[in-house]
Amino acid sequence: MKIAMIGTGYVGLVTGTCFSELGNDVICVDNDIEKIKKLNKEIIPIYEPGLEEMVKKNRNEKRLSFTSEIEDAVKESEIIFIAVGTPPKENGEADLSSVEKVSAVVADVMTDYKLVVGKSTVPVNTGKWIKKTINIRNARGIDFDVASNPEFLREGSAINDFLFPDRIVIGVESERAKNILCELYKPVDAPILVTDIESAEIIKHASNSFLATKISFINAISIICERAGADVEMVAKGMGLDKRIGKDFLKAGAGFGGFCFPKDLSAFIRIAENLGYDFRLLKEVERINDEQKKLIVKKIKENLWNLNGKSVGILGLSFKPDTDDIRYAPSIDIIGELLQEGVKIKAYDPKAMERMKVIIPGITYCKDPYEVCEDSDALVVLTEWDEFKNLKVKKIKKLLRTPILIDGRNIFDPKSIEDEGFIYSGVGRK
Ligand code: UGA
Repeated sequence: MKIAMIGTGYVGLVTGTCFSELGNDVICVDNDIEKIKKLNKEIIPIYEPGLEEMVKKNRNEKRLSFTSEIEDAVKESEIIFIAVGTPPKENGEADLSSVEKVSAVVADVMTDYKLVVGKSTVPVNTGKWIKKTINIRNARGIDFDVASNPEFLREGSAINDFLFPDRIVIGVESERAKNILCELYKPVDAPILVTDIESAEIIKHASNSFLATKISFINAISIICERAGADVEMVAKGMGLDKRIGKDFLKAGAGFGGFCFPKDLSAFIRIAENLGYDFRLLKEVERINDEQKKLIVKKIKENLWNLNGKSVGILGLSFKPDTDDIRYAPSIDIIGELLQEGVKIKAYDPKAMERMKVIIPGITYCKDPYEVCEDSDALVVLTEWDEFKNLKVKKIKKLLRTPILIDGRNIFDPKSIEDEGFIYSGVGRK
């Protein structure tokens, strides 16, 4: 099938590349000319395992191309995916001006049937607006359909998530649109849920909000565990064995980040508000998450007493492992607070340091975790990269000025690390 993927951000680039891998002809479009130039040289703007190889392969086989000429891409394609950014406005609402612009271009250049599919995370009723925008400009009365096909890709495992999803959600209002999208996803072995467009739009926001709620729930439980002398890892395990609860997304830690959960939560709260519902549950999910980051700073204070002039080593800057993405990463808030207290920071991350240097230039970036430990008064783990789980703890202890370890992701076993002589503080553990 011939596909135009408008927007080559995270979602667009991964989804477009995966559709080409399935044998479709995909043109990826972006108005960032520099980005397109780089992609045409096979320089991938994000770190995502397996993506670079897949881009190269499909470009070589002439199924995948990159352009900034949206008009040509739309003309040549039957299915137009809108995967442009929907960044948060100051009040938390999603800014949909890019979605509107793309819809207008589609209307202006189409000469034959187009299926316009919303892929970006958007408020409910965006599909209606896309349809309205195209209709207003479609004086020639050309046939088209609008659909919603939300993505559920996780950074770091996005390709796998695309090829082996739990489900595919398709929101449509015509048989023709349904048949095209079902045919497109035929090679993917997953249940397809066909709904109306509004339900598909809400499924995306409700899913992300529910997952964020699960994380804040276990983080709240972690506070109870600490106070009661229980271990949240055990509690999560005991809860997760119940199939109705499930074991995933019950990992207590330094809070959730990334460009999806924080943004989608506040957008969904605004959507509910606009529909006359005060979604207090989700407001509390946000509050718990903010508190969780402050709790890490509190733990550092409890161990170091006065922070001014102390040296703290940070392991992990990205919002989660296997990505270089630092957007809304808990590390940003935690480092910010520590800097305000006059702490000197040394940090290391396997992939995210170049990005972090741009927004927090005034700290020391180290070549490896051991350099971070040299003469630091405490070591703080903020991202659970595999590399950190296999560190030589004896060496770390020797390098640290005082053997204080704040494990913001519970990657170490408290008993064995304490047996090595560390003063250990995890999240929700004795
Ligand atoms: C999330 C969803 O998981 C995807 O399904 C969705 O498609 C995507 O948002 C999106 O809307 O585009 P992502 O943001 O890549 O994916 O990352 P997650 O793996 O969901 O993790 C989000 C945050 O939650 C991370 O900061 C992670 O450290 C934190 N987390 C996750 C926890 O603190 N505890 C957990 O148990 C799980």
